Amino acid sequence: MSENEATTDKIERLITPLETHPPAPEFVAGTKVPADLRERAAADRLGYWAEQARELEWATPFTEVLDWSNAPFAKWFADGELNASVNCLDRHVAAGRGDRVAIHFVGEPGDTRDVTYAELHREVQRAANVLESLGVTAGDRVAIYLPMIPETVVAMLACARIGAVHSVIFGGFSSDAIRQRVDDAGAKLVITANGSNRKGRVLPLKEAVDAALERPGHTVEHVLVIERPDHEVEWVEGRDLRWHDAMAAADDVHEARAFGAEHPLFILYTSGTTGTPKGLLHTTGGYLAQVAATHRTSFDLRDDDVYWCTADVGWVTGHSYIVYGPLANGATQVMYEGAHDFPTLDRWFEIVERYGVTIFYAAPTAIRGFMRSGREIPQRHDLSSIRLLGSVGEPINPEAWEWYREVIGGGTAPIVDTWWQTETGAHMIAPLPTQDALKAGSGQKPVPGVVVEVIAEDGRRVDPGEMGLLTITEPWPAMARGIWGDDDRFIETYWSQFPGRYFAGDGAGVDLDGDLWLLGRVDDVMNVSGHRLSTAEIEGALVEHRFTAEAAVVGAADETTGQAVVAFVVLKESQREAAAETDAVAALREWVGRIIGRIARPRDLYIVDELPKTRSGKIMRRLLKDVAEGRQVGDTSTLTDASVMQAIAGGVAGGAHDD
Ligand code: WTA
Repeated sequence: MSENEATTDKIERLITPLETHPPAPEFVAGTKVPADLRERAAADRLGYWAEQARELEWATPFTEVLDWSNAPFAKWFADGELNASVNCLDRHVAAGRGDRVAIHFVGEPGDTRDVTYAELHREVQRAANVLESLGVTAGDRVAIYLPMIPETVVAMLACARIGAVHSVIFGGFSSDAIRQRVDDAGAKLVITANGSNRKGRVLPLKEAVDAALERPGHTVEHVLVIERPDHEVEWVEGRDLRWHDAMAAADDVHEARAFGAEHPLFILYTSGTTGTPKGLLHTTGGYLAQVAATHRTSFDLRDDDVYWCTADVGWVTGHSYIVYGPLANGATQVMYEGAHDFPTLDRWFEIVERYGVTIFYAAPTAIRGFMRSGREIPQRHDLSSIRLLGSVGEPINPEAWEWYREVIGGGTAPIVDTWWQTETGAHMIAPLPTQDALKAGSGQKPVPGVVVEVIAEDGRRVDPGEMGLLTITEPWPAMARGIWGDDDRFIETYWSQFPGRYFAGDGAGVDLDGDLWLLGRVDDVMNVSGHRLSTAEIEGALVEHRFTAEAAVVGAADETTGQAVVAFVVLKESQREAAAETDAVAALREWVGRIIGRIARPRDLYIVDELPKTRSGKIMRRLLKDVAEGRQVGDTSTLTDASVMQAIAGGVAGGAHDD
């Protein structure tokens, strides 16, 4: 089902009494989540967050909870001091839990490795010593461009241990995108691998870093290279260092020092409505408190759980719900390196079966993909260990929700649909599975301690049964503390449309019971397989190509990926001949892959004579979206020339696109 249909389906649900799934008594038995948690948090929000923060280990306990005097730049627990890596490792080892498995790692080629908390602790101490020996100190930025392997977690926690700020760059980004991020953050060190195993092939990571750093004028002093696949890479003497050699030479004891709660922990870049990605800055104490708390409450975490989040660490879900949340909670988790369909679509289910996964957290795109390939595949496996399912990254359509519960969750597992963003750092809307009667496709309620309001364009709160814009009215501990190097952009992007409120860019509905239904973005940010992409950024890449005069990009509904990138390009008069001699469509798609990364390559790219524009020169994306989704083109009365749309629609129907 497409996102549009999903949205329509959801809108109907706002005013329809629905079947609900209350928690089964067997499920609730033994939970550690207090039954009155939400009420307690509502009665004393700051007290609730302080209580959650006290679950962490503080070297200096905090006495202040929130300082909002410089809004929207929050300070949480500011006079407290702690170390994030100590909270994720040392304290568990000290509590006698060192032998517990932190990570059951499964490599794509089929190799496996269990890493205990004690082992992870030693590796992180070694890595912290390595980083310090390279002159990395507190506050320095370290770029991390790595596959889904335990060393990535080691690298991130080693940065945290010494107070360096990591900036993880998703492996699907290109060398240009790496360079942009390295420059923006002024990274001193890059940690990468000789390659990443992907669908039986090697993705060249080191080559991308080399290309990114080819042009002088960057801030990088060293590149640390982890050897993962069997793949030779070029070596820049003096700059490049082998991770394994450096680790072998390093001491495995590292005395961690505590940092202020507001010490920067990481920067993570994400797409917005304008051309350049934004580096969202997260700090230590509040972030850690909220990711750990929500990981416990949204998933009803218990001691014997085997948790698996299938996201990539290159996105915020990996930061918060693979690295910091689960490790702060001392959980046991699965980490898988490769593609879900390699070597076959059985891979994920084999892993669930092998490790007895109890909590499974994935994106709707994957669920819809499995729905399409048929229930026989999961049904070949024993998935009975699963007791709770999570969903993240994009709206989940009720049909996929039902299928997920029935086929993967054995008809009984609660589904926790978690809405949040890179900017929010942690879950913001999610049902409490131990108390809420679930509704297929609804995020239901803000997590305890979070206050949201759905409002109309004029700022009025919408009534039950209506749709509007999702805003957050009170500060929360894991909120981004700004955009790296650009405070004004932070205020302008998130806090100016509705003064005093954070506006997320998402639409939401409120049903007759007051439950929330997330409806996707209302701005020009696309969501492809749960990955955020900006239409403006892709348009920017397209117009950099010598063929292109003008480009427009839209996110079109896609049955599996939620949305897909569809581009319309007008060629330069002077380049038409050159373009005709090559496969211009393929060349332009590849170009976007080169400039941004393969995740941004348009699914369809149409060469058109003109773009539909209003009299004031604004491109009418709505009309292009109609074409891209194969719909009757809507109202064209504001166009300067309505025949433009006929020509475009005719060309598209004629099959001028690339498959
Ligand atoms: C979308 C990913 C509906 C939303 C954690 C948001 C969702 C954007 C959900 C953030 C959900 C995320 N239901 N939509 N459960 N979760 N989104 O920063 O549009 O990569 O604004 O963070 O994903 O994407 P980001």
